Amino acid sequence: EQINKGKYEHYMQKEIHEQPESLTTTMRGRLRRGGSTKAKTVLLGGLKDHIKSIRRSRRIVFIGCGTSYNAALAARPIIEELSGVPVTMEIASDLVDRQGPIYREDTAVFVSQSGETADTLLALEYALENGALCVGITNTVGSAIARNTHCGIHINAGCEIGVASTKAYTSQIVVMAMLALAIGDDAISSQARREAIIDGLFDLPNKVREVLKLDQEMEELAKLLIAEQSLLVFGRGYNFATALEGALKVKEVSLMHSEGMLAGEMKHGPLALVDENLPIIVIATRDACFSKQQSVIQQLHARKGRLIVVCSKGDAAAVCPGGSSSCRVIEVPQVEDCLQPVVNIIPLQLLAYHLTVLRGYNVDQPRNLAKSVTTQ
Ligand code: G6P
Repeated sequence: EQINKGKYEHYMQKEIHEQPESLTTTMRGRLRRGGSTKAKTVLLGGLKDHIKSIRRSRRIVFIGCGTSYNAALAARPIIEELSGVPVTMEIASDLVDRQGPIYREDTAVFVSQSGETADTLLALEYALENGALCVGITNTVGSAIARNTHCGIHINAGCEIGVASTKAYTSQIVVMAMLALAIGDDAISSQARREAIIDGLFDLPNKVREVLKLDQEMEELAKLLIAEQSLLVFGRGYNFATALEGALKVKEVSLMHSEGMLAGEMKHGPLALVDENLPIIVIATRDACFSKQQSVIQQLHARKGRLIVVCSKGDAAAVCPGGSSSCRVIEVPQVEDCLQPVVNIIPLQLLAYHLTVLRGYNVDQPRNLAKSVTTQ
């Protein structure tokens, strides 16, 4: 065990810190840099005979549980943008409970680190019965999802041992960004956008290396939050998923109540919870939603909210209404908007990790949870 953890004390810690490498492995052999005559493109071998059918499908439905669902949610906007195909999201158990409509013209994408989650497998069985084209995105070669889908992509993040998923999450997002690029590959109008994303993917491991330097800062923040009862995380757009996933990490391992919320829903209930005691993390990195997040921060500030803001490097003054004394700022490197969730989740993974260690709980095997839930 000790050998596998290398210099780290816990698998979760190791898996958080190895993300520059796991992301590099995820992308290996799949991105073409282009040249003077060739365009920059993505090659996804496991999909090559099916990409046209996916492009022509009437709808893409993402199906998963837990962190895998959140990864799909993070990728949804870029899939919609580059494919032009409507995308809907399904939590696997809920799709099966409702027996929700799935059609022959649908592409159903099953996202699962283990490839063995019972609820996701039941949803796969259901989608196959209904005639959908079924695509698997998994970290486990030979798993039930890899075997029973029509085609798929392995995320190649390497074995993940910590029950709380970290490196698989970021690799799943990158794989789905590559899926978006592959589906949209035939559209001239979005070529510049696709090339910018490919450049961003090449540079992503470096940016992740940079954001991991926040480790100590997140440990300091964890010390301040150690005794809190509750934590809220607000995000929107590409980073709605970051809010859900950040809150999920904190609750899974540190056993602190935390909720991720869509910032656009703040006035429809959550605002009632805001006072000078409850810590609130707001994700406000630069993208099309930035000015809306600035106004969310102002409204929380006006109600004396205890703010912790994740923003792009150099934006501290732009996000803190009353200067740095009014809120704590976590500055992260800016990347292409659709890849920003990969960078933004990392300080929250580190926060969850340090909170857990400081509170004295089991990091790698949190109470009552299993790495792979193979029963209903
Ligand atoms: C369990 C694990 C989570 C994981 C979820 C889905 O709840 O504790 O970390 O996100 O299952 O697992 P999967 O293997 O399908 O991604």
